[in-house]
Amino acid sequence: AAVLQYTFMIQETNYTRLCSSKNILTVNGQFPGPTITARRGDTVIVDVINGGDHNITIHWHGVKQPRYPWSDGPEFVTQCPIQPGANFSQRVLLSDEEGTLWWHAHSDWSRATIHGLFVILPRLGTTYPFPKPDAEVPVVLGEWWQNDIQTVFEDFITGGGDPASSDALTINGQPGDLYNCSSSETTKIKVDEGKTYMLRMVNAAMNNIAFFAIANHSLTVVGGDGAYMKPLISNYITIAPGQTLDLLLTANQPAGGRYYMAAKLFNGQPSSLFDNTTTTAILEYNTGNFTPSSRAPVFPSLPDFNDSNASFNFTSRLRSLATPEHPIDVPLNIKKTLLYTLSINTVPCSVNETCLGPGGRRFAASINNITFDMPSTSVLGAYYRGISGVYGNDFPDVPPFRFNYTASSLNRSLQFPETGTDVEMLKHNETVELVFQGTNLVAGVDHPMHLHGHSFYVVGSGFGNFNRKRDSLNYNLVDPPLMQTIAVPQNGWTAIRFKADNPGVWFMHCHLERHVSWGMGMVFIVRNGKSSNARILPPPPDMPPC
Ligand code: C2O
Ligand code: CU
Repeated sequence: AAVLQYTFMIQETNYTRLCSSKNILTVNGQFPGPTITARRGDTVIVDVINGGDHNITIHWHGVKQPRYPWSDGPEFVTQCPIQPGANFSQRVLLSDEEGTLWWHAHSDWSRATIHGLFVILPRLGTTYPFPKPDAEVPVVLGEWWQNDIQTVFEDFITGGGDPASSDALTINGQPGDLYNCSSSETTKIKVDEGKTYMLRMVNAAMNNIAFFAIANHSLTVVGGDGAYMKPLISNYITIAPGQTLDLLLTANQPAGGRYYMAAKLFNGQPSSLFDNTTTTAILEYNTGNFTPSSRAPVFPSLPDFNDSNASFNFTSRLRSLATPEHPIDVPLNIKKTLLYTLSINTVPCSVNETCLGPGGRRFAASINNITFDMPSTSVLGAYYRGISGVYGNDFPDVPPFRFNYTASSLNRSLQFPETGTDVEMLKHNETVELVFQGTNLVAGVDHPMHLHGHSFYVVGSGFGNFNRKRDSLNYNLVDPPLMQTIAVPQNGWTAIRFKADNPGVWFMHCHLERHVSWGMGMVFIVRNGKSSNARILPPPPDMPPC
């Protein structure tokens, strides 16, 4: 395996979108940021230089970093932030990941502009488990915010209400034809009739799941979250913030054709096509030597903005490839069973504040009724050095009280979460089943839950309250998809299984930025194993200080 070297210079760069210019934080001046390309098993060293003027951290989303949480990146979970003017050389250790992942800032809301693809090719001498595409095309869904994102973040935190929404959804940094002053820059993907393309796609948007489709074309899912999947043909896809998908597209329409690819937000505003929740790019067939038609491209049809069945149906059809070359290893003998409720709450505002949440209160979010309180020093540092007082280790295995989680109106007295920095301790190689149960407190919405340091098998999901006796009978233990981010359906549940084989300190949180900022997160600590190659590696000398 190779050792590759990248330099990430964090800097303010001037960009113009929607008729106005502003400085945004970028890596190497690029929005979206540069793509990292490596092969399975490589080590990538990224020298991160903070040339901006606030603290930042960078996370390699989906990379497990075996025994090396030091470079994982979530602020105050595994490291203190890289301060302005400082550097941090991060070692990104690839192991069994193969396919598309991504990287992003993991402090405040800077990931709005600090993100990019992380492509992991098969090892030299091996190939994809599908015919080699003629070309690979990045499709990064993101957002454009007219206001400074740091200001958006601070206003939202102080106000206690809902955050502002972005001004445009983007494909590869461009809003597309539906927006003012954008059509001359619309992303165009040129294809040749008869060829096959692989779209490497990520949803890097902040707060919403998205639907995506291409007019007159179907898409074949062949992978996601850094693992291969059984080919799944669909006219549209659903992709949650944090998720990645590898899609094959066959250019089977005549030369000269032009088609819109479009993405819109699920649970966005009720809307027509022409508003700030739909972005388009153009799939354009090369013509050889005749002049292309000037006809406007055709729109694809997308599910309705509130079609939770469409979202659920797509996600629940994903399957692992599960072949001898790409075997799976679903834990069958479970040692630890956890049930975590995911809730949106409101809490009282302090005396001199006016809060913009429902009833003059402040929004919060919780797992098992605990709102995660971000410490001011790293949990990993405290664990590794045995410093007490930074976190507690009694995160509850089950909700503190049971109720009808998905009833349509719920008693307000269930809405008062406690605040804490609590971790769940796992033994090395412990097999875990974790059921996420969505609740209808304040608002039932899908929560894309993301676990650091591990991939997990999604063995089941459904609407309503989880019932172990009934629902565990329907688990898929044969070819469940191996993922790192899974959208738990609104008013429903999702069951995942994983083996805690990676000693370290690993954040788990909702990948909707507003929810993690409200406290929908917790930390797993996987203890060292007995043998010397099952222990956390020592920290690098340049860990940023707090
Ligand atoms: Cu995509 Cu905790 O991260
Ligand atoms: Cu959430």
